[in-house]
Amino acid sequence: MTADTPNPAPAPFSVPPLRIRGLEFWPPVLPAPMCGISDYAWRLLSREQGCPIVATQMVSSEAMIRGADKCWRLLDMERAEQPIIAQLFGADPETLAHCARQLADAGATIVDLNMGCPANKIVRSKGGSALMREPDLVRRIFQAVRRELHDVPFTVKFRAGWEKYGEEALAMARMAEEEGLDAICIHGRTREQKFKGEADWSILAAVRHEVSLPLIGNGDVKTADDAERMIRETGVNGVMIGRAAMGNPWVFGAVAARLSGKPAPPPPRIEERLDTVARHAAIMVERKGPHGIVEFRKHLVQYLRGFPSARKLKKRLLDVTDIDEYLRILREAKDVGGYWEQEGEADEASVSAEPCDAEVSPR
Ligand SMILES: Cc1cc2nc3c(=O)[nH]c(=O)nc-3n(C[C@H](O)[C@H](O)[C@H](O)COP(=O)(O)O)c2cc1C
Repeated sequence: MTADTPNPAPAPFSVPPLRIRGLEFWPPVLPAPMCGISDYAWRLLSREQGCPIVATQMVSSEAMIRGADKCWRLLDMERAEQPIIAQLFGADPETLAHCARQLADAGATIVDLNMGCPANKIVRSKGGSALMREPDLVRRIFQAVRRELHDVPFTVKFRAGWEKYGEEALAMARMAEEEGLDAICIHGRTREQKFKGEADWSILAAVRHEVSLPLIGNGDVKTADDAERMIRETGVNGVMIGRAAMGNPWVFGAVAARLSGKPAPPPPRIEERLDTVARHAAIMVERKGPHGIVEFRKHLVQYLRGFPSARKLKKRLLDVTDIDEYLRILREAKDVGGYWEQEGEADEASVSAEPCDAEVSPR
C-alpha cells in the first residue's frame, strides 16, 4: 500500500453463533436475567430486537419445591416462548435438581443456576454468590442437577469472585467443565461490588484461556461498541446485557446488528418509543391484571430517562392506574407532541433498579 492508497474500509464485525450443547444462537446476544424485569413482556421485546434466546428471572428452588404459585408467576413463562433459559437459585443439591427437572418439563430450553446474586437475604441462605465460597457444595449441586438434567442443557452464572477477584471464578469455571455443564456466564464484578464500580472483563479472558466451555460475558455492555470490544478483548462466545436494556430494548437491536455484520439500525424515534411504552404496559396488564400497570412504573421511568422534556408526561402516567387511560395519554402525547416540547430540568429515574425481589421463603 502506498501513501496515496486510501485505507480499506474495516471488514464488518461478524461472529459465529453461540453453541450450547447442539443448539445454536445467533447473533450471540442475550438479555440478562433480572428480578422484577425479565417477565414475559420484557422477553418478548428482547426477542423482537434480535435476541435469539431469552431468560427468566431467578426463582427459589426452596419455594418451588413447596409448590409456591408465586414462583410460576415470577417466571411468567409460556411453553411457546422457547428457546428460553429458566434460572434457579438455592443451595440444596437434591432440591435444585428436582426443580431443574420441573422447569425443563415446563418448557425451559436451558436451566441455569444462579451463583451471582449478592443480595443479603439470598446469601444468608447460602444461595447466589455465597456458593462461590462453597466449592464442595457446588460440586454436589452440579452433579445432582446434571444427573437429573442429562437430556437438557444446564448452565451456571456467577461473578468474578466473592471479595477478591479471580481465583474463585476460575475454580468454579474449571469445576463446571469437569462436571459436564454446558456453558457458563460470568458477570465481571465481585460480590462485594454488588452492582457498583466497573465490571472487569479480564476475568473473562482468564477463564477463556483455561476452560473450553461456551462462555458468555456480562457486565457493563451498554452499546454495540462495548459488545464488540468484549468479544475481541476476551474471546467470549456471547454477550449478555442487563441494565443498559432497561427502557432501551433497542440496544439489543444495535448489538444484534453489529454482531451480524449489519449496519446499525437508526435510533428509535419518539413515536416508536411511545408505541413501545404503550405496548409494554399493555402486555404487562394483559398478563398480570391491573397491577401490571403499577409494576410497569419502573420501566416507564427508564424509558423516559434522559428526556427532560417528558417530565410532564411521566408525572401524569405515574398517577394513572387504568390501562385505557394510560394508552389514551400516550396516544395523545404522540399525536399532539406537546409533552415533548415542555422543557424541564434533567430527569433522573426515580425508581431504582436494585435487585432483588426474589423470595427466599415460599408464600
Ligand atoms: C434489577 C436487577 C435484577 C437482577 N436479577 C438477577 C437475577 O434474577 N438473576 C441473575 O443471574 N442476575 C440478576 N441480576 C444481575 C444481572 O443479570 C447482571 O448480571 C448485572 O446487572 C450485570 O450486567 P449489566 O452491567 O449489563 O447490568 C439482576 C440485576 C438487576 C439490575
